[in-house]
Amino acid sequence: MRKKTVCCIFGGNSTEYEVSLQSVTGVLNNIDRNRYDIITIGVTRDGKFYLYDGPEEKIKDDTWYTSDYITPVLFDPSNSDAPFAFVTGGEVRRLHVDCIFPVVHGKNCEDGTLQGMFSLAGVPYVGCGCTASAVCMDKATAKLILSTCGIPQAKYLCFTADEIARGADTLYDAVEEVLSYPVFVKPSAAGSSVGVTKVKSRADLPAALRCAAEHDSKVLVEEYIEGREVEIAVLHEPDGTLIASECGEIDPGSEFYDYAAKYINDTAKYYVPARINKSTQEKIAAVAKKIFTALGCRGFARIDFFVRGHGDAEEVIFNEINTIPGFTPISMYPRLMEYSGVPYGELITRLIEGAGT
Ligand SMILES: Nc1ncnc2c1ncn2[C@@H]1O[C@H](COP(=O)(O)OP(=O)(O)O)[C@@H](O)[C@H]1O
Ligand SMILES: [Mg+2]
Repeated sequence: MRKKTVCCIFGGNSTEYEVSLQSVTGVLNNIDRNRYDIITIGVTRDGKFYLYDGPEEKIKDDTWYTSDYITPVLFDPSNSDAPFAFVTGGEVRRLHVDCIFPVVHGKNCEDGTLQGMFSLAGVPYVGCGCTASAVCMDKATAKLILSTCGIPQAKYLCFTADEIARGADTLYDAVEEVLSYPVFVKPSAAGSSVGVTKVKSRADLPAALRCAAEHDSKVLVEEYIEGREVEIAVLHEPDGTLIASECGEIDPGSEFYDYAAKYINDTAKYYVPARINKSTQEKIAAVAKKIFTALGCRGFARIDFFVRGHGDAEEVIFNEINTIPGFTPISMYPRLMEYSGVPYGELITRLIEGAGT
């Protein structure tokens, strides 16, 4: 069997740059080297693309881009066989690639921008295509589509950053007509809980709206769901079958699962499997597959829910979907797949074999 060349992309002009460094380290340490030759392309925080051929440790400790192992690389959308090119000794060299694995998260990475570029070139890549990536990144759009499929979700309103900048009382009245405090205010497209605030009174609403509007041009104000946070991994097999994992549960150990609970404090507790009823697990698995299909996803996605109530009264409410979920071996997506019978190395192989254009 001819070895395929897989190009792993890491970093990115995104607030989740550091998460990507950890995710790609996991991939590089566990990818099946008997099947795949690897090239790595790093994207700096300001969006510059470099071919990187140095040790993995320098990716993990974020010194890769100051090393001697980098070469500026260009993307040529008219060449599907060798879309990356670089100049050496005055000559243009092209890099043959069979598959691209974008191991990057958040804006400019997971939101259809990179995916559109790969699609344009016609080179196979892991994960969702351009449209599904963009739709899933934009919570307002994903919610709108899912509301037409009868997927339960928090009640919400959506405002533009322009409306928020004008700061009229009518806007706060509109919130209070539909929702009661506390409410959650969040950018429509962001991640890592950046710009998310739990608002307990009208007095705190303007600042929370302005804060969310710093991160996106659309802002959601949502009903507060008092429930447990439960996540599920969906894998789209190369033959087209969908696998939904066991669920995992997060207890943020703080008021909500904010940036500090995710990356700084050690308060969060993770449970695999989630402490939910068997029937609720089955319900989430079925709803997750329906969501994955409705949003046109491919490859993989982690879908996050709230479970409200206990026992027979457990109610399942969709929160959000991540099309390139955190991907270290101990991140929720790989942990859930591993628990459900697909070990990390095998998962990477299946994703690469299921890559599409
Ligand atoms: N409607 C809501 N009710 C209760 N908690 C919420 C709600 N929306 C968000 N949260 C809390 O805020 C966190 C981050 O919000 P989320 O919508 O998942 O954005 P992000 O894409 O930044 O992860 C959630 O994990 C949860 O703890
Ligand atoms: Mg989230």
